[in-house]
Amino acid sequence: MCGIVGYLGKREALPVIIKGLKRLEYRGYDSAGVAMLNGNLEIVKKKGKVSDLEAEIGTKKLDATLGIGHTRWATHGEPNDKNAHPHSSADGKLAIIHNGIIENYSSIKKELELSGHVFKSDTDSEVLIHLIEEIKRQNQCSIDEAVRLALNEVVGAYAIVVLSKDDDRMMIAARKGSPLVIGIGEGEFFVASDATPIIEYTNNVTYLNDREMAVIKDGSLTVKNLENVTKTPFIQKLELDLEDIEKGGYPHFMLKEIFEQPKSVRDAMRGRLVSREHHLFMSGMDQYLNRFINADRLILIGCGTSWHAGLIGEYLFEELSRVPVEVEYASEFRYRNPVVREQDIVIAVSQSGETADTLAAIELAKSKGALIFGVCNVVGSSIARIADAGAYLHAGPEIGVASTKAFTSQVTILAMMAMYLGLKKGTISMSQYQELLLGLDSIPDKVTKILSKADEILTISKSFYQARNFLYLGRGFNFPVALEGALKLKEISYIHAEGYPAAEMKHGPIALIDEDMPVVFIATKDSSYEKVISNIQEVKARKGKVIAIVTEGDTEIKSMADFTFEIPSISDALVPLLAVVPLQLLSYHIAILRGCNVDQPRNLAKSVTVE
Ligand code: F6R
Repeated sequence: MCGIVGYLGKREALPVIIKGLKRLEYRGYDSAGVAMLNGNLEIVKKKGKVSDLEAEIGTKKLDATLGIGHTRWATHGEPNDKNAHPHSSADGKLAIIHNGIIENYSSIKKELELSGHVFKSDTDSEVLIHLIEEIKRQNQCSIDEAVRLALNEVVGAYAIVVLSKDDDRMMIAARKGSPLVIGIGEGEFFVASDATPIIEYTNNVTYLNDREMAVIKDGSLTVKNLENVTKTPFIQKLELDLEDIEKGGYPHFMLKEIFEQPKSVRDAMRGRLVSREHHLFMSGMDQYLNRFINADRLILIGCGTSWHAGLIGEYLFEELSRVPVEVEYASEFRYRNPVVREQDIVIAVSQSGETADTLAAIELAKSKGALIFGVCNVVGSSIARIADAGAYLHAGPEIGVASTKAFTSQVTILAMMAMYLGLKKGTISMSQYQELLLGLDSIPDKVTKILSKADEILTISKSFYQARNFLYLGRGFNFPVALEGALKLKEISYIHAEGYPAAEMKHGPIALIDEDMPVVFIATKDSSYEKVISNIQEVKARKGKVIAIVTEGDTEIKSMADFTFEIPSISDALVPLLAVVPLQLLSYHIAILRGCNVDQPRNLAKSVTVE
């Protein structure tokens, strides 16, 4: 949700900021803007993408070695030029960029209006910079003190960067609930929502903690908390390569990330699974092994695709480690009064590690004494830091807004966790354990095989890209895959799609079936194969079009489906890791054939750091 970037150093700031904004565009892309400080405070902002902002800047002279930039995902106020960031104070001397939501902005705004403040935008962010200005005026204090006092008055989430025209060698940043990283180079500093705008200049970074602010002034960095206590910044080395965040010859990040899955799944297993020796090491679990073994139940929490991975986790943990599991939408969990006990273990599944609802849900569970285990991709993210223990995905940056490789890595981690716990509890037989170990080990090669037939999916896509609705059906481990297939299609192609357990079809969705309804069955040879065949017959009898994901060598379904796509055979529990790949490709190709922007679908943002 919104990307922010700031630069203070010796270089021309504008190119650094524009390039950074392009890297952060996955976080929001409805408007963008920059503020450059070089004697004057110049602000240029524009509705649309960063490329529209570049066109607006055109040949304007924005020479400066200090500047900030923002790419927006609208929360308060529609996406237009006036609501784009940066926002400025009434006297035009201060500028702010903000990611997050100031929840009490409306009462602050009313008070400021009574003191004569006039607002140009509908945003909560403009209110914050006016508040800083007002506090500075009333207290006759420094700008950093005014920022600190103002942040003590606001409720909500923020990552901000503030510039002051009166000090063109100073940049102030602060965070609460929204990510912020500071890059420290030779005589230069960078501030950004994630490390991607920074990586080519320095790999020395520090992450601000909640309620901390950084004052970068006269070549040095001071970090303090909102109680004015100075903190020693923890400088760490970034483990990120430039090529990880570039498209590497693919037309879209989504396609690149789909094709990266053999590697990303392997990386999730690296150092954890040694199949030749039949070993599994889950060091994050080892720290709390007794709690895992004696847990009353596991609660898996996530949103969207991560919630789907959690559903597969439920099947895995229940089957392999015989522990009761609940899977919760973070947004629902946090707002009811859930029963959470000290013997519960909450597993937070999140690619970004910054999803506001997931973060709030685990804070709630932690306050009730549950152990929190994070399954995150982004190292050092808020969820990863709040968790008592965890296992990183190591999938590398996922930039396409539609999650693909993170999903398969999440399922891989959850499968290893369920197997590990099953082994420690004695609820899984040695032969089942060994079969699953070898099965997991074979996933990267099997995914490679599926990807080598991507053209078959393109052919199928050509027959259906104009459909208005899609149904995805699966049973058992393949039910969450149906949900995930439907989500992928709707988010990037804007086709209405629903995922259902195949057996539920006759309780309602069957009414939708006619000759215009494509139905995707995940119909692999597993324990419910025969039942799925009956469901396919029911669809065919109503003239629905059947696309079936089947196990290699299947002839029965081939004879009844309109299209089939074969995936290699694997144990039931691991099928989702293979079956989801053709569904990712199907949504990708359909979206491209419909002319959609797959990497930046409308209304979506990669990291949902607002409620
Ligand atoms: C779907 C998608 C979203 C995310 C969801 C949770 O393709 O990307 O549904 O899965 O917003 O995000 P994380 O995993 O970052 O918590």
